Amino acid sequence: MTEWMTLAAAGAGLALLPRAVRRLQLSVAKHPSLTGHSKMALRLARWLPGYALNESQFYGADGADPALQQRRRAGLARLAHTLNTRHARSLAATREARETLSDLQLTGAYRVPFPFSKTLRAVLGVGAFVQRVDGAWLVDLDEQRLLDLTGSYGVNVLGHAFYQRCMAEAQRRALPLGVSLGTYPEAMLDVLARLRRISGQDEVSFHMSGTEAVMQAVRLARYHTGRRKVVRFCGAYHGWWGDVQPGPGNPMPADHTYTLQDLSPRALHVLRTRRDIACVLVNPLQVLHPNKAAPGDSGLMGARTLPAVDAEAYAAWLRELRAVCTARGIALVFDEVFMGFRLAPGGAQERFGVKADLVTYGKTLGGGFPLGVLCGQARWMKRYRDDRPADLCFARGTFNAHPHVVMGVQVFLEQLDTPEVQALYAGQEARWDARAAQLNGMLAQGGWPVRVSHWGSVWSVAYTQPGRYHWLLQFYLREQGLALSWVGTGRMVFTLDFSDADFAQVCERFAAACRQMQADGWWDAAPSPKALKRMLLKETWRAWRQR
Ligand SMILES: Cc1ncc(COP(=O)(O)O)c(C=O)c1O
Repeated sequence: MTEWMTLAAAGAGLALLPRAVRRLQLSVAKHPSLTGHSKMALRLARWLPGYALNESQFYGADGADPALQQRRRAGLARLAHTLNTRHARSLAATREARETLSDLQLTGAYRVPFPFSKTLRAVLGVGAFVQRVDGAWLVDLDEQRLLDLTGSYGVNVLGHAFYQRCMAEAQRRALPLGVSLGTYPEAMLDVLARLRRISGQDEVSFHMSGTEAVMQAVRLARYHTGRRKVVRFCGAYHGWWGDVQPGPGNPMPADHTYTLQDLSPRALHVLRTRRDIACVLVNPLQVLHPNKAAPGDSGLMGARTLPAVDAEAYAAWLRELRAVCTARGIALVFDEVFMGFRLAPGGAQERFGVKADLVTYGKTLGGGFPLGVLCGQARWMKRYRDDRPADLCFARGTFNAHPHVVMGVQVFLEQLDTPEVQALYAGQEARWDARAAQLNGMLAQGGWPVRVSHWGSVWSVAYTQPGRYHWLLQFYLREQGLALSWVGTGRMVFTLDFSDADFAQVCERFAAACRQMQADGWWDAAPSPKALKRMLLKETWRAWRQR
């Protein structure tokens, strides 16, 4: 009996071994950081106690001596006075709206690292109101002009004036159609032909946002493969739908999502050996910072080095992904919602020479109107089976292919073919390389611990030394008339029509902001990375004990 039991246990162990090995292979294919381990990150996020540095702790959080603290206090008071008086109306409107506008509460609270947020917000804020645009400038309620480096979340590829023209023309074409939804304007035929040509894909579906286009791509991949799991790469954003947003921010664990390492043979091995993977999502923006999320100010404390973009290595990686997905019947999805029409009119497929099975677009493609679009090969796009009529893959949406949106896409795509717009794409990589080198040269010469890295017109800002106050740069930049999105100092998104004269202004203003930030002492007393970690741990531990 005992022998029989031992044999049975050994047999069960052997049977389970391949599963355990596959599980282990999956674990090592994840990025070792918390970003790569979303469940752990979620657990930690639930545990991490909130705390706020009070007024007297605020200025010395990096161990600055009293004299330095005093310099910082005076600097922030001056900065706050300037911003608060210059933008008084915009700030008052923002304060009033925040009471009821949930989004503003979130963006206001997470603009800077949470320990500093409360004390900072008592001193200064950032206006969220604008009354008009003027070329590359935003004009707020106080008639203050700010150079727009927000990129409108990536929508603004070709400049505000371009979209103003697109929207006006689209509206003119769409108005006779009222709200005729579920039917299509004749222009749809032209739009479909253009999208097929640009994407190199067979079919098209319209959605209301980039998030929805991604949802549909994943749903179709699951439908056609009969598999559940979705692979995304560490740090990549694909919208706010639960399955593509595991970890903090999503209250549910995303149990069917594998977050793997970019540019990793281990990830390829997982794709090659598992049988449960329906699709692989690729956000080409990751070429700028593989395996890292876009740098946001709320986490910006340590030094963050961003290696230069290696487009060739990334192209080779995409080719490997393409081959393994083909071999394993996995759908390769390029999520071009952000980078589509920015790198090249044909997006990452054109830039990297790799064809996907499904491609999502959004943002700029609507010519200023909101949308999501999915293009794909017929075999992946089909939503029903002729031989199993009840087994379908349903996708609808009241406002899908709204006449204004369809016309917006048509005008956008028409404009894309014009010589003027083509000229904006020609040589853009070299142009942005030169501009980034120019700004980095200035920053190095000034002795400021700030550097930019970039992929075309999408820029990241990083710091060469650790520091607890890097996030303050966004306010100094604002003082100099440079507007960044609420994500903060880490990201600047330019338009392709950004002129040399406007860029010269950015450099000048950026330098002035750094000069002032240094003069106010925020980069003095730079703690070592180890000391910084110790400080943060100590603060967190204290807060945890005081819960
Ligand atoms: C790559 C990518 N995919 C999807 C989305 C989601 O698009 P939307 O915000 O229109 O839902 C975004 C938005 O930033 C994105 O950058």
